[in-house]
Amino acid sequence: MRRAIYPGSFDPVTNGHLDIIERGCKLFDEIIIGILVNPEKTPFFSIEERQEMLTEILMDLSKGGCNVRVDSFRGLLVNYAVAQEANAIVRGIRAISDYEYELQMALMNRRLEPSIETVFMMPAETYSYVSSRLVKEVFQLGGPIDALVPPLIEKRMKEKMNKV
Ligand SMILES: Nc1ncnc2c1ncn2[C@@H]1O[C@H](COP(=O)(O)OP(=O)(O)OP(=O)(O)O)[C@@H](O)[C@H]1O
Ligand SMILES: [Mg+2]
Repeated sequence: MRRAIYPGSFDPVTNGHLDIIERGCKLFDEIIIGILVNPEKTPFFSIEERQEMLTEILMDLSKGGCNVRVDSFRGLLVNYAVAQEANAIVRGIRAISDYEYELQMALMNRRLEPSIETVFMMPAETYSYVSSRLVKEVFQLGGPIDALVPPLIEKRMKEKMNKV
């Protein structure tokens, strides 16, 4: 059983994340989306909201045979990965700018837990510039985000904005 953790904030999940998950499904028997609980950041969506939206969005992929589930964790990623009996950590690389930070993290994680491999994956070129931060920025300035996130996310972002 090859199990991978795909960790991140997913605040919110983008089509870039989904592209990586879909590709990861071909390599692993199971993927666990690990939403990192970061008390230092003020998120757009709460952990519960992110978990619920991801679960709903991933239903289509699950029906297509992708074995994926959503969870959240706090503390060291490698400790979480070991607790979940995972063999690998999946990370997405968009550009050279991601690589430097990701390499540093991967090597630190290897030092902390040599039994877990980090696997880097490249998204489709179409998503190589998509980040949660940029999606939120474009959205808050009134730009269209429909090609960047699943329809449910766009809907929830609009609802949230109208509330405040
Ligand atoms: N469009 C994308 N293509 C490929 N990988 C991606 C993409 N967006 C995010 N990732 C990767 O997914 C993982 C989790 O990322 P994270 O939750 O930080 O998303 P993010 O879009 O980078 O969010 P933020 O803008 O808040 O940093 C990281 O490995 C990140 O590099
Ligand atoms: Mg990021």
